[in-house]
Amino acid sequence: MATLFNSIKVGAYDLDHRVVLAPMTRLRTLQPNDIPSPMMADFYGQRASEGGLVIVEAASISAHARSYLGAASFYHDGQHAGWQAITDAVHAKGGRVFLQLIHGGRQSHVEVTGGADPVAPSVVPFDGVALTKDGFVPVSPHRALGIEEIPGIVEDFRAAAARAKKAGFDGVELHAANGYLVDQFIQDGTNRRTDAYGGPIENRARFLREAVEALISVFGADRVGVRISPSGEWGSISDSDPEATFSHVAKVLNDYGIAYLHVIEPRVKGDDTLHAGHPAVAAAYLRPHFTRPIIAAGGFDRDSAMAIVEAGHADLVAFGRHFSSNPDLPYRLQHDLPLTPYVRAAFWGGTEQHYSDFPAYDASPASAPAGADAALDETESA
Ligand SMILES: Cc1cc2nc3c(=O)[nH]c(=O)nc-3n(C[C@H](O)[C@H](O)[C@H](O)COP(=O)(O)O)c2cc1C
Repeated sequence: MATLFNSIKVGAYDLDHRVVLAPMTRLRTLQPNDIPSPMMADFYGQRASEGGLVIVEAASISAHARSYLGAASFYHDGQHAGWQAITDAVHAKGGRVFLQLIHGGRQSHVEVTGGADPVAPSVVPFDGVALTKDGFVPVSPHRALGIEEIPGIVEDFRAAAARAKKAGFDGVELHAANGYLVDQFIQDGTNRRTDAYGGPIENRARFLREAVEALISVFGADRVGVRISPSGEWGSISDSDPEATFSHVAKVLNDYGIAYLHVIEPRVKGDDTLHAGHPAVAAAYLRPHFTRPIIAAGGFDRDSAMAIVEAGHADLVAFGRHFSSNPDLPYRLQHDLPLTPYVRAAFWGGTEQHYSDFPAYDASPASAPAGADAALDETESA
């Protein structure tokens, strides 16, 4: 029987265990120009493990694709050395490292796009926030993409993947989740187009397919993953029939032979648990449509992670918040050791404190940094 702690082949790679670092935007690039910082290399190196998979936070594929000041991006040469330091740090520990690639679409602001209006499949106003020098502010009004602009964005995905490959990443993950641009095309609440990219799901999945093909053209299908969030609520995204929409998406992606499908369970919204106590449901209904590895994410603890793998609904489990404060999370889970509480106040920007200063497990008491959240389970509501 498969367990969280036995080996698995994911695309081109043989992994030793199934505890994955979920991508987490932590807003710690050096400004200006989004240069990956030395503390980011420390953070990822600390969370790497022999035969473990690390998925690095969303990196915007162009200046226009950005959503949050301080977030990662990869579209110019000045960023190469910083990213190379991160892949080197993971490889030094015997881990594998994928970079998540993102276009924020309508979740953006003119202050972070270089003055350009945010873009989306269609104009559907919503209450969202972007991060500028003034903090989290309401997003700027967006405009609908002209059909002739779409190949340029697909090319930006390809170029970012090529940069990632050159910087030593083992693969890339397309961010098709959480209401960003690819998700905005997939779901009918945000896609009202009447051209080849809108209407039936076959059309709404066209941009996804083109982006995936661009990444495959660089890495090969067995080094490309895709993240989706069926019924997710981050970014005010919605679909009239999520199960049908995402079952189709899973089938389409299965046909490409990609390395993995990464599924965020709808019980979480972005960085928080929205529906505490809800079971994991999305991975289970997608399982029949996707025969390669499924990574489930969102609100897992040790028991539920072991259970979903043993039940066969998912093959790996990605952890976000718990991994933020437990650099040796795979080891702690395997040996059923206590977890250090995470520190929500340090999620969105800051220094090394409560970011890259969490120690590995220490058998002596009081190893948790001061100020950590008291609650560890899914009922936490900070
Ligand atoms: C601070 C923070 C930043 C996040 N940034 C990203 C991101 O860049 N890309 C992404 O797909 N998900 C992002 N997420 C969502 C996580 O990958 C994950 O799905 C979520 O935290 C739920 O998993 P958990 O319950 O294990 O924390 C972020 C979450 C947190 C807490």
